[in-house]
Amino acid sequence: MTEPQDIPGPDQADELPAEQGERKHRAIKSFVMRAGRMTEGQQRGLDIGKPLFVLPLTDDFVDFDAVFGRSAPRTLEIGFGMGHSLLEMAAAAPEQDFIGVEVHRPGVGALLNGVLTQELKNLRVYDCDAIEVLKRCVADASLDRLLLFFPDPWHKSRHHKRRIVQPEFAELVRQKLKVGGVLHMATDWQPYAEVMLEVMQAAPGYRNQAADGAYVPRPEERPITKFERRGERLGHGVWDLKFERLD
Ligand SMILES: C[S@@+](CC[C@H](N)C(=O)[O-])C[C@H]1O[C@@H](n2cnc3c(N)ncnc32)[C@H](O)[C@@H]1O
Repeated sequence: MTEPQDIPGPDQADELPAEQGERKHRAIKSFVMRAGRMTEGQQRGLDIGKPLFVLPLTDDFVDFDAVFGRSAPRTLEIGFGMGHSLLEMAAAAPEQDFIGVEVHRPGVGALLNGVLTQELKNLRVYDCDAIEVLKRCVADASLDRLLLFFPDPWHKSRHHKRRIVQPEFAELVRQKLKVGGVLHMATDWQPYAEVMLEVMQAAPGYRNQAADGAYVPRPEERPITKFERRGERLGHGVWDLKFERLD
């Protein structure tokens, strides 16, 4: 996504009122909650699909083999947006399991509606902050792939601290990937692609899978997303990065 974000007041979102003289600041989030009208299908997705497919944010690592009723290659996607590419990937690979994490309610509703309509058995959802999900619910060395497609680029310098790709993120993801597991990121915002590359090259315990040591060609398994299509129309490039956990 390449247009500037509509932020409600510069950086004020980083602070919360002090509660009982305790923590004044919360961790900086990579998203702002956007209100959005729900379509009938999205509402149906939430009403019927949420009790079936949305997992609660807990403080215990989840046994995903038990959740899916089998042991299969496991992919987690952060920020699936309206869920089109996640649905496509899950439908195309019924032998694999997928976990989607998104905070945007209409997007969660849309994805769940798709899961119901397509009767997918290999997809579960978290409707909250992916960083919390990784830290609290996902055991170390339990993911084969982590996908981050077209994360919010946060164009303005004063918002760069909101970008999800930071050294701490690289380390958190490394811990959650199996050895040999892959972090796959894509963006259509070149300055963010350069930051991703810089962060990942400096992060210990990874190997860049790109032959030229920078970006990989668009992998077949990544469906074209809404933002990519829009970017293509506007003549933007897309940068894919794949980093494998070494140890
Ligand atoms: C620019 S959109 C891209 C959506 C989708 N990947 C695509 O390519 O169409 C980024 C999405 O990431 C979500 N997001 C950002 N930070 C997140 C976080 N920490 N946890 C869950 N979702 C997040 C936002 O709500 C937004 O829907």
